[in-house]
Amino acid sequence: MSKKLKIVSIASEVAPFSKTGGLADVARSLPKALKRLGHDVIVITPMYGKIIDKKKNDLKLIFSDVKVYLNSTETVQVNFWKGYLMEGLPIYFIENKKYFSQRKSIYGSTHENARFLIFDVSALKLISLLKYEADIVHCHDWQTGLIPFYLKTDFRYSKTLSKAKTIFTIHNLVFQFGRNWWEVPQDKKDFGRKRLPHISDPDVEYLNFVKRAILSADIINTVSEQYREEIMTKNFGQDLHRILKNREGRLFGIVNGIDYKAYNPQNDPALISNFTHKKVHRKKLNKEYLQKKFGLPINRDIPLICATSRVAYQKGTELIIKIFEHLSSINAQFIIMGDGDKGYLSKLKKIKQNYPKKLALLSFSDNHKDETLLYAGSDFFLLPSHHEPCGLNQMIAMRYGAVPIVRKVGGLHDTVKNYNAEKNTGTGFVFEKFNEIFLYEAIMRALELRKNSKAFRDMVVRIMQESNSWEIPAKKYLALFKKAMRG
Ligand code: GLC
Repeated sequence: MSKKLKIVSIASEVAPFSKTGGLADVARSLPKALKRLGHDVIVITPMYGKIIDKKKNDLKLIFSDVKVYLNSTETVQVNFWKGYLMEGLPIYFIENKKYFSQRKSIYGSTHENARFLIFDVSALKLISLLKYEADIVHCHDWQTGLIPFYLKTDFRYSKTLSKAKTIFTIHNLVFQFGRNWWEVPQDKKDFGRKRLPHISDPDVEYLNFVKRAILSADIINTVSEQYREEIMTKNFGQDLHRILKNREGRLFGIVNGIDYKAYNPQNDPALISNFTHKKVHRKKLNKEYLQKKFGLPINRDIPLICATSRVAYQKGTELIIKIFEHLSSINAQFIIMGDGDKGYLSKLKKIKQNYPKKLALLSFSDNHKDETLLYAGSDFFLLPSHHEPCGLNQMIAMRYGAVPIVRKVGGLHDTVKNYNAEKNTGTGFVFEKFNEIFLYEAIMRALELRKNSKAFRDMVVRIMQESNSWEIPAKKYLALFKKAMRG
């Protein structure tokens, strides 16, 4: 093996400790995959006092009441806790009473930037305390965006981190700092170069963490190849396309993987009937169970389509609602699992009242244990996103033999290939325009295929054999790390 690297991975959420979305899964799985490839990895994340159970997770306090300098005059007190993500892979938690211990939710405070500025400086402090001479500091999403900036400015002469290179991964460019970037008045916009304000200065809340990361990181990447291209355009660039274009030579795209051990239909205990690509007929028992449990007519011949995502504009909920207004003309059952936008949810509830035999609605927080069962019992999986940096659920659905129906955007474009009836190839149904007519048409094509039981079965077998485990992307990350180290 080539040189063993020392890697620090820093993220605001890491499953199973804290999670609001796919970021948490990546922040858990990628370090594990890198560790399995023989590298030395540590993970750093905040201690959300009301969310993470220290006792249950057997966390140990390793440094307490550490005074962290935010600048020449301001300090905060933090504690550092340690646990393990897997054997030999430590995860450190940064605890600060005022900013991280009181809240019931991970995000949503009015001083989000101040919270994560403190987190970023404290993470650097911890690395020095551990004397962890990292080769790579891997920062995920906006909450860690000041770290690459600090390493080029205030921490430039840090002894421990003198040779560290930074890589900044964009999981979703819409989120750039603690508030919506498009609501910031022109005169408050952060151009990314000036010294950081004091934490007591209200202007802290206007700092654009992502912009600063893009300008300072040694390498920037996003979670799919297609999204890399998209964010350099005005349509997807969220006002940062120009600076991304300027750094094009340092901008890369690596499609995420999924954890093949955690998601395995062969032994997943959540399923009623386990199966492999050689026994796809066993999916039907899962389907009947779902139909019964969620009040739909029990009939294994009716196509079942599931959707599991946040209920949000990004995820294309709007298109789903529009086609559901014509549900009577679609010969299929739907199960939608997700929380989110209240307006969309109330519209879905109304539709459900009109079509109780065709639609079941489940909240994610109450039913998340059934998520993989949903894929296992469904014929199709729906994700008509407006934009999708990567998307993980379509890959999980494929592993469980639910054929994806997706929009050709971001990671969905990279992971799902449109069905070709003549050649009997493809791994799903893909449509281009963000418009309900195109979604409707894709669903019709999907239902048409299902009428041909041989061709449909071939498709299910094919998607179950797609290879989306973390091993391949982890190796791509290593290549990127080495590129960063070469300068
Ligand atoms: C964000 C993106 C999603 C991606 C995930 C993990 O949640 O919206 O597309 O899969 O991050 O990278």
